[in-house]
Parts: sequence; structure tokens; C-alpha cells
Amino acid sequence: VHPSNAARVLALQDRTRLSIIVDDFDVARAWSDAMTAAGRRLEVLIKVDVGFHRCGINAYAPEALDIVQRVADLPGLQLRGLLSHAGHGYLAATSADLEAVAWREIETLTSLAWRAREAGVEIAELSVGATPTARFITRQNGATEMRPGNYVFFDRTQVGLGAASLNDCALWVVSTVVSRPAPTRVIFDAGAKTLAADACRGFGAHHGYGLVFPAVDAPSPDSSITLERLSEEHATARVPAECTLRVGDRVRILPNHSCVVTNLMDELLLVEGTTVVDRLPVAARGRIW
Ligand SMILES: Cc1ncc(COP(=O)(O)O)c(C=O)c1O
Repeated sequence: VHPSNAARVLALQDRTRLSIIVDDFDVARAWSDAMTAAGRRLEVLIKVDVGFHRCGINAYAPEALDIVQRVADLPGLQLRGLLSHAGHGYLAATSADLEAVAWREIETLTSLAWRAREAGVEIAELSVGATPTARFITRQNGATEMRPGNYVFFDRTQVGLGAASLNDCALWVVSTVVSRPAPTRVIFDAGAKTLAADACRGFGAHHGYGLVFPAVDAPSPDSSITLERLSEEHATARVPAECTLRVGDRVRILPNHSCVVTNLMDELLLVEGTTVVDRLPVAARGRIW
């Protein structure tokens, strides 16, 4: 964004190595002006659209090279390289689709970098970031940096996309049955304020708002329990009439999207087996801008 927060960036530069991302020349120039006025230089990467169609310059547009050259020439900035996020990998229907997304990402970045280098612009970094494609990126040449974020915990979506196994997942919500108002309905005390309302992505159909393991120490999920509906504080589950869950029973739920769940928590409990060994405050909670 426009450097309205330049004072904070300058203060942070004293404490850490910091770089910013731009996809607009006017914004880059404004940052350069702010840095020049402060007698500093700031590292910058240019965001490239590799198919997600959110932010990023179009690497194949005639003006792409021109933007790279002009940003590289700005006196207050030090162009470090190109950066992308292949968020469209989350829509892949097969592993082959996902691999194609990763290939296209590297191809898009390397081809623009090649043209920039031919024109005399130094491109030191090609930075890619997304958890579903991470396993394919490591098999290719080109990227110098990976920024998978969800990778820290994984979740039901990553299992659905073949990026993780259930055993790899490290963030779980423990929830209690608070009502069994009908034989085929169980109510848990974890709603949208706990599990978040994201749908599960992945190859094939993944219904509901999380995968329920029928006890805290249950080794495998019970796919007959479907978290059909979330209210703010309740999950309404459809279960077979023979389901044995009763009021007071505790289950373990694998969330569809762990990133948003973390941001809803003040602290995380670190467990070994079912023993709590430590508590971790979520320092970045709410720090979203
Ligand atoms: C720019 C950027 N880089 C990296 C990531 C991390 O991707 P993932 O959540 O797939 O790990 C994100 C996630 O939204 C992102 O927007």
C-alpha cells in the first residue's frame, strides 16, 4: 500500500531486515520518495500474478519488464527479486493439477527474471509461497525462497489436497458435547468463533466444518459424524442414530483451515498425547494489517 505507515517501517528497519512487496509503480515510487527523504533504502520484491488473479503484475503483459526496470531504478529502493503466491492451487481437483500450478508458477517467475536479467536488472530472489504446491516446488529449479505458512500446522484442507497426512496435522480443537436433542443430532460447544466458517478444499468432496475424532485420544476420525452447521458457539452435527456420543463427551476436531482458527485463539495448548505440557500465547492474534 501507499507508504502511510513509512514511519513504522523505518523504525522496524533498525531492528530487523525488512522488505516490502509492490505491484504498482506509483506505490513503489512513493516508497522510494519516503526512503530517500529519510536517507534510507528499502528492499522490495515485485509481486507477480501466477494465476491466482488477486494481486500482482501480469508477467506476460508488454509493460511487465518496463515496471521491473523502473522499480529497479528507484533510488530509495533495492530490488531484491520477484514474488508470488499460487493461491489458486487450493482449487486443484487432482494432484496433477496442483503440480501444473507449481510448474506454471516457476515458469512465470523464471521467464520474467530471465528477461529482466537480459535487460541488465539484477534479480537475486524468486520467492514462492503456498502450502499445497510446496512439495512440487522443491522438485524444481528456480525458486530461491519458499513461504508456505499453513505448513506450520496443516489442516483438513491440506490433507484433502495431499499436502499432509492426518498424522502431520498439529492443530486440533477439543470440543464437548453439550446436547443430544435427537438421535441423529449432536451439538458441540465449538462454533464459528472457534472453528471458523471456511469450507474444506481438496480433491473430491469434503463435507462439513471439520473432521471429528470421536474421543480426544481416538486414533482415527469418525466419518459418519458431519459438522453440518455452525452457529457462533455451537456446531450442529448429523450422526447415525447408533452414535454413542453423550452430553459431556469430548471429541477432537481437525479444522478445515487452521490459519483462521489460530487467529481466533488467545493461546494454544501444547500437548504430548493428551497431556498439556505448555501454553503458547498467540502473539500475532489480530495483527492483520
Ligand atoms: C502472499 C502470500 N504468501 C504466502 C502465503 C502462505 O500460503 P499458504 O497459506 O498456502 O501456506 C499466503 C497465504 O495467504 C500469501 O497470501
